[in-house]
Amino acid sequence: MGLATANGDSQASGLRFLIYGRTGWIGGLLGRLCADRGIAFAYGAGRLENRSQLEADIAAAAPTHVFNAAGVTGRPNVDWCETHRAETIRANVVGTLTLADVCRERGLILINYATGCIFEYDEKHPLGSGVGFLEEDTPNFVGSFYSKTKAMVEELLKNYENVCTLRVRMPISSDLTNPRNFITKITRYDKVVDIPNSMTILDELLPISIEMAKRNLTGIWNFTNPGVVSHNEILEMYRDYIDPEFSWRNFTLAEQAKVIVAPRSNNELDATKLKKEFPELLPIKESLIKNVFQPNRKTPIRP
Ligand SMILES: NC(=O)c1ccc[n+]([C@@H]2O[C@H](COP(=O)([O-])OP(=O)(O)OC[C@H]3O[C@@H](n4cnc5c(N)ncnc54)[C@H](OP(=O)(O)O)[C@@H]3O)[C@@H](O)[C@H]2O)c1
Repeated sequence: MGLATANGDSQASGLRFLIYGRTGWIGGLLGRLCADRGIAFAYGAGRLENRSQLEADIAAAAPTHVFNAAGVTGRPNVDWCETHRAETIRANVVGTLTLADVCRERGLILINYATGCIFEYDEKHPLGSGVGFLEEDTPNFVGSFYSKTKAMVEELLKNYENVCTLRVRMPISSDLTNPRNFITKITRYDKVVDIPNSMTILDELLPISIEMAKRNLTGIWNFTNPGVVSHNEILEMYRDYIDPEFSWRNFTLAEQAKVIVAPRSNNELDATKLKKEFPELLPIKESLIKNVFQPNRKTPIRP
């Protein structure tokens, strides 16, 4: 395993991160961010459900903080979890809880990239109302096996005072070639629904998660940019900034249900708590333009 060479930031701060999810999207981005910032880090080699491997990783890396960007999300999508229930439980339930428990035993904070796909719009939080779910709200979406297990784990992790749970949603990055990127996904679908949702701009929020570790923050956090954006609003931006010829077709939730196995979560999370801690946090549409569309712009700037 071995720690990446430290300089600057980490030598001054003494930070040493142990990161799970080396081969994953979020874990890969996080390692690159640490390298860019001169923060010493190592990737965990152990499988999450293997306690002794996790203990060996921690002994070797002697980290100040542990980050968990490992877990199964399913390939090609979360429907995989419906038919691979034991594997989903092994990584996302047994694994995540084991890592939290080992970290607690060692007195280490665990920054856990979790999910906000455990809520759906309801009577108290209707679509378009601007009333989002709070950190203390109990998950109300268990429509997919993936979400169901994530909701159970969140509930259990509340009892671990060393865990910082980050509710990520529909993550977006400035790399528009990455098939995991929500924008890339919806530009490739034959048809898309059009529903406003809370989303996470990784270019802005992953650095914030590093800052959260530095501040030793724990507890549950809605880890999304404030506000909501709909599929069509994103596709309109894509057309305006990237490809003027781009067009798409919408379909209804009922029509979508025919081409997927498990229902998907649609919701707004209230980002007030995160915004209070990080006042510079941009509203979702501003962050999309600043961090994703402007840097990738291919269309001429209109006067
Ligand atoms: N992408 C999304 O849409 C999304 C949305 C909200 C939340 N999240 C959450 O964010 C986390 C990271 O997502 P991602 O998109 O970066 O996932 P990803 O690209 O699928 O990567 C998952 C990573 O987890 C590792 N992994 C899986 N099972 C493991 C186990 N039992 N032990 C150790 N490592 C294991 C994989 O390594 P191997 O290849 O070695 O198995 C891989 O490095 C997940 O927990 C996910 O639930 C993702």
